[in-house]
Amino acid sequence: MTIRAVVVGIGHYLPERVVENSEFEKTLDTSDEWIRSRSGIERRHFAAEGETTSDLGTKAAQAALADAGLEASDIDAIVLATSTADLTFPSAATMIQQKLGMVKGFAYDLQAVCAGFTFAMPNANALITSGQAKRVLVIGAETFSRIMDWEDRSTCVLFGDGAGAVILEAQAGTGENTDRGVLACDMNSDGRFKDLLYVDGGISTGQSGVLKMQGREVFRHAVEKLAGTANTSLERAGLTKEDVDWVVPHQANIRIIQGTAKKLGLGMDKVIVTVQDHGNTSAASIPLALSVGYQNGLIKRGDIVVMEAIGGGLAWGSAVLRW
Ligand code: UT7
Repeated sequence: MTIRAVVVGIGHYLPERVVENSEFEKTLDTSDEWIRSRSGIERRHFAAEGETTSDLGTKAAQAALADAGLEASDIDAIVLATSTADLTFPSAATMIQQKLGMVKGFAYDLQAVCAGFTFAMPNANALITSGQAKRVLVIGAETFSRIMDWEDRSTCVLFGDGAGAVILEAQAGTGENTDRGVLACDMNSDGRFKDLLYVDGGISTGQSGVLKMQGREVFRHAVEKLAGTANTSLERAGLTKEDVDWVVPHQANIRIIQGTAKKLGLGMDKVIVTVQDHGNTSAASIPLALSVGYQNGLIKRGDIVVMEAIGGGLAWGSAVLRW
């Protein structure tokens, strides 16, 4: 018998405050037209003062628990993908654990920036297939508005805050790719490109810092690496592009999303797009898009879903699962 990590619940949370592109026109030399045409972003959500990544992650987790009909006490582990934890330590995952009222099991953060969710999925899958946990809450939650340089028009118009969560549960499978659950994953990083996207603060500097990005350079790497990793996961799962029902990409830029779909040989009718409403929410973008796609009735039981993401590191990865 093969153990599979099957999605049994999903949910998301977006902070109340919605910021339209036009708001940036008041303080920066930018325009709604530039932001829309270069990135596809129309609006994003920003956390309220005092609202933290663990607050967002807790609300997404509660929505996923409600969707699954489960209680926090039914969960064995929390894996939180984030680069904007509330504090240096303890992990924001343990804060979510406490806010959920979960008094057993274990929780930790995993940091792979925008690729975070595509690293958290194989991580949670490994916990389940190795028998260390039966049910894992896999969360992507970020408050990138806390690390923006509001005078840098080339970055601050691109990012947003939010959280998404899925619950993976151990279920018996056959070992064939007709099983539901995680079928294959792929993770990569290359630290030679660390200067393309980073935050200029942290422990070594005594301040939390702001995001710096060479956008054009990251863009140059994105399409090829994203299509490459998606194809690797599909191949490992014994599937081809014809089997794909939905691509759920990291939502950084509509042009990257379109370019990757084209390179994969898939039409945009197979791609879940939320970048217009959320901006780039880093590790939260895939679970947010998954949750929106599921709520809108697009992603259905039995569908083959491919997730792919790239971000700071550079780090990039993908996962293929049958919903
Ligand atoms: O999620 C992690 C991974 N990150 C990404 O995937 C982001 C990848 N990169 C991108 O999405 C795009 O490179 C951006 C959206 C960041 C930028 O688009 P671009 O087409 O690569 O523009 P660019 O950086 O080449 O800039 C074009 C021009 C520049 O002016 P000059 O030098 O041509 O005169 C910029 O100064 O646009 C200017 N510009 C702006 N103009 C108006 C940059 N930001 C803005 C702005 N408003 N907000």
